[in-house]
Amino acid sequence: MTVSELKEHRSYWDDGPKVEAYKAAFAKVITKDSVVLDLGSGTCLLGFLAAKAGAKRVYSVDGGSIIGLIEELIEANGLGDVIVPLHGFSTSVNLPEKVDVIVGDQIGGFAYDAGVNQYYADAVRRFGTPDVVTVPAEFELFAAPVTLPEVSENIEFWRSAPLGFDLSPAAQHGANLLHTVHLDDEALLGSGVAAGRVAASSDAPFDTAAEMTIEKAGELHAVVGYFRAQMASGVAMTNDPADPDRMLRRWQTSFPLSRSVAVDEGDQVQFSSRIAPTTYTATWKIAVTSAGGERLYSQTHSTFLGRFLSTDDVREVDAQRVEPTGERGRLERLVLDEHDRGGSIASISALAKEAFPDADPAKVTRAVTAAVQRARQAKL
Ligand SMILES: C[S@@+](CC[C@H](N)C(=O)[O-])C[C@H]1O[C@@H](n2cnc3c(N)ncnc32)[C@H](O)[C@@H]1O
Repeated sequence: MTVSELKEHRSYWDDGPKVEAYKAAFAKVITKDSVVLDLGSGTCLLGFLAAKAGAKRVYSVDGGSIIGLIEELIEANGLGDVIVPLHGFSTSVNLPEKVDVIVGDQIGGFAYDAGVNQYYADAVRRFGTPDVVTVPAEFELFAAPVTLPEVSENIEFWRSAPLGFDLSPAAQHGANLLHTVHLDDEALLGSGVAAGRVAASSDAPFDTAAEMTIEKAGELHAVVGYFRAQMASGVAMTNDPADPDRMLRRWQTSFPLSRSVAVDEGDQVQFSSRIAPTTYTATWKIAVTSAGGERLYSQTHSTFLGRFLSTDDVREVDAQRVEPTGERGRLERLVLDEHDRGGSIASISALAKEAFPDADPAKVTRAVTAAVQRARQAKL
């Protein structure tokens, strides 16, 4: 274990609003008959709270090296009869019995982005009793327009030709990646708006949409996403930057624009996103319209385009409703489609040469051969 890990785990114990929300939720859902899965237990904070709430048994599962410390902590607290530590990733361990309650806080700024949906979905399917409940149960997702110079600078730097080199392709990646931020209400250029909901245990792709009004003139750099988690009936927990009772340590997730846009009071910002939790892919569209109706910005972004495209990524393009950009992406798409139709390297090369008439034919053949090999491997 490293000093930074120890510090990180301490910060979870220090997060008063988070701890109180879990305590209140456990008081509602845990009984003396409850078998609990503490998924991603860290130093067993939630496992201890579940045991204190009266759980019959708690399985505290963690994939990291911290598991050795958990054993010592359980012993130090005389809870060896209740809490069973298990080393392993939740998606690969097995439990000796079904669980009534699943708890954890693998919750990202926009909820899905730290893995909660896919881990809970798997745990519910494999370990849950028919009446299993999860804490949190559901996330309401919000979007707000923000000024975030550090996000914008991180994109603009790559456009500034440092040392005289053209590094602008990196800006394209930066504008298609999610940035994690710790905001307070100073950064907000308008109120947050409800954008959608997702059950904590659903790993199916989902959509969000919100229409926001600029309330304070400034430079718009991003739309920030945050959540309000329903922990149990009547118990909520949030990372809303405008809420004084928000969690202390949880970040928000910002969806950047590719360039900053000067906005005035009354301007409108439309945001929509499609999220695929199992691949951590987010595709978002931001459109900004002035109060007078002039279109100031409109662009679709995707974490898909922020990555370096592999064949598996290209297969996902349709699901994400974005077109691959650049020659490499378009070629990969063409090869994949033709390969799936049973095309040979020769026939696909002929089509690719027609599609890219200006490219060196030998290079096209080499690129097709390599892409066909990737497509074959991806199918295995
Ligand atoms: C955000 S910390 C939270 C720890 C603890 N729940 C708390 O409230 O203090 C996440 C911990 O979960 C572990 N982890 C993350 N995903 C996991 C998974 N799918 N299965 C098992 N452990 C996981 C990490 O190793 C880390 O120790």
